[in-house]
Amino acid sequence: MTTEPALDTEPFRERALTTLTTARARTTLLTSCVEDPDLTAQHSPLMSPLVWDLAHIGNQEEQWLLRAVAGQEAIRPEIDSLYDAFEHPRAERPRLPLLPPDEARRYAAEVRGRVLDVLEGATLQGTRLTEAGFAFGMIAQHEQQHDETMLITHQLRRGPQALTAPDPDPVPPFTGPAEVLVPGGPFTMGTSAEPWSLDNERPAHRREVAPFLIDTTPVTNGAYQAFIEDGGYDTERWWAPEGWAHIRLNSVQAPLFWRREAGQWLRRRFGVTEVVPPEEPVLHVSWYEADAYARWAGRRLPTETEWEKAARFDPATGRSRRYPWGDADPAPEHANLGQRHLRPAPAGSYPAGASPLGVRQLIGDVWEWTSSDFLPYPGFAPFPYKEYSEVFFGPEYKVLRGGSFAVDPVACRGTFRNWDYPIRRQIFSGFRTARSESV
Ligand code: AVJ
Ligand code: FE
Repeated sequence: MTTEPALDTEPFRERALTTLTTARARTTLLTSCVEDPDLTAQHSPLMSPLVWDLAHIGNQEEQWLLRAVAGQEAIRPEIDSLYDAFEHPRAERPRLPLLPPDEARRYAAEVRGRVLDVLEGATLQGTRLTEAGFAFGMIAQHEQQHDETMLITHQLRRGPQALTAPDPDPVPPFTGPAEVLVPGGPFTMGTSAEPWSLDNERPAHRREVAPFLIDTTPVTNGAYQAFIEDGGYDTERWWAPEGWAHIRLNSVQAPLFWRREAGQWLRRRFGVTEVVPPEEPVLHVSWYEADAYARWAGRRLPTETEWEKAARFDPATGRSRRYPWGDADPAPEHANLGQRHLRPAPAGSYPAGASPLGVRQLIGDVWEWTSSDFLPYPGFAPFPYKEYSEVFFGPEYKVLRGGSFAVDPVACRGTFRNWDYPIRRQIFSGFRTARSESV
């Protein structure tokens, strides 16, 4: 007789329950803070109506946790195609016969009720899909990703303020070194160990990196304004050719949601117009804008590999950490995450979240554009479905790292990868710059 070492699966069951519950609380807030007509309207052709996200969240949960994991029959098989992101582009979704708000709420709640029963009895080991609660973690992350998407829709929505949150604590102006030297040499990128990591973060592999310097904090509004004032948007040589064509054609002259009035820059943020705060990381810039700024500054965007080394490499041990501050899950003193605040925190915030080399705010605040295309790691295998990552690999998408204030901790790690088109800027995107070490 062999004795199997009993893996304690209870912490994963507990974590699945708390992360699913946290996600649903956020989804409920984002879909109840406006009236029904604002849920069914399309606020931007870039986004789905909020009521689509709501039922899509329920439908993905049903497909993975009730059908794939528990083997249940479909609750409403006829709606699958309506909520399949590949069948209908976002711009078309308002014209589909979507479930009205009340029905969408009822459907998502019905799925969740059954999922909690499944979770209670699930064996969280033995099959790859449920090992360490993976499928439950994947669905909690999926819901939180759509909660970020829905927050973007709220930002694009015209009309009075519907959401409020306290501001991050003020901090004294950051006076530390502007950049940090990251030593050259190999480091471990990606993960094979993190139980809820998604397919594109896997597997862990060694990469050689040349020494480089990286900004200690994200680029601020104040610094970005200097680029604008210096004629950055009118100077072709700072821009990638496609970026230049794009900003000319669309008359782009400042980050999205900015407007100049009486000699100062104002921005609209969740229904309120305010003066652009100079010390805050710049938000709502495209990859092309980030790339142009970096060139104007005599610098460049970091590669994805450089970003991850700056975030995870511990020179004392040579190990890669889960997060810049270590292996502990994110806590409020580490990073601005989870829609606790509806804006980035000033540059230099969260000293407790710094990397061993002293780089700040890598996690939270703003997604950071990297110079890299979204490509698979050596040894990549799609799991559990090709449409999560594999169909997006290629040169048309650029990688963003680190998460924004709108990202929940469950969907954010030192290895987490996001991607988007280089023209996109309705997302909560910013950047920091880098340069190669000159010998
Ligand atoms: C990883 C943010 C690019 O929103 O398109 C949501 C996440 N995948 N539903 C997206 C996702 C399927 C994805 N991003
Ligand atoms: Fe989705």
